[in-house]
Amino acid sequence: MKNNSKFSLNKLAAALSIGVVTAVGVIPTQAEAQVTFRNAISGEVIDFSFGKKGEETEAVKHFKSTAENLYNGDEEAIKMGEDLFATACSGCHGHNLEGKLGPALGDDYWTYTQGRTDKGIFEIMYDGARSMMGPQRNNLSIDEMLHVMAFIRSSYWGKPENALWIPEEQRAEFEPAEMPEEFKEAMEEFNKRNK
Ligand code: HEC
Repeated sequence: MKNNSKFSLNKLAAALSIGVVTAVGVIPTQAEAQVTFRNAISGEVIDFSFGKKGEETEAVKHFKSTAENLYNGDEEAIKMGEDLFATACSGCHGHNLEGKLGPALGDDYWTYTQGRTDKGIFEIMYDGARSMMGPQRNNLSIDEMLHVMAFIRSSYWGKPENALWIPEEQRAEFEPAEMPEEFKEAMEEFNKRNK
């Protein structure tokens, strides 16, 4: 009788632990669920095996599974992103994102509307767009790109409602950055010429 009850307890424990194992088995599958990233022009699925090797940081893992950038709003990451941007992007996009050879990146006008989401801007950066906008995957690791993106978003001067990388419920409270002088001047010049 005593033995029997012990046996059934063991059986119960075994059954429970199978339950737990099963539950644990489900968790990693969910965490590994990957977002499908696509080339901004062709729509072809991006293969991550060719780019510059970098650490699979928490931010990289999180981004690959959710398309959410953990560096957004992180002062230190933004500072590092600014330095990377100055080296890798500012020659064509301007130091203050005002645009040069390439378009401004801090306004809310996008050639590729998907640039309003973090998934979309990443796809453009990683795999390139047209003409001089080549893929950046050999210049920057994914972690570095996430830093650059955080810098770009921190300088945004467009309308809050077009800031689609911000969760909808937080968008109304979002305060855009100030429009840089260089962009104001370029707009005035453009308006004069197009009168
Ligand atoms: C050699 C010049 C050059 C460099 C370097 C460069 N870009 Fe570009 N970029 C361009 C041009 C030109 C376009 C317009 C391409 C098009 O319309 O297809 C562009 C387009 C883009 C767009 C799409 C803008 C829109 O309105 O849809 C994004 C985003 C972008 N670049 C981000 C970056 C970032 C971030 C970097 C640095 C990691 C970078 N670019 C480096 C020239 C450059």
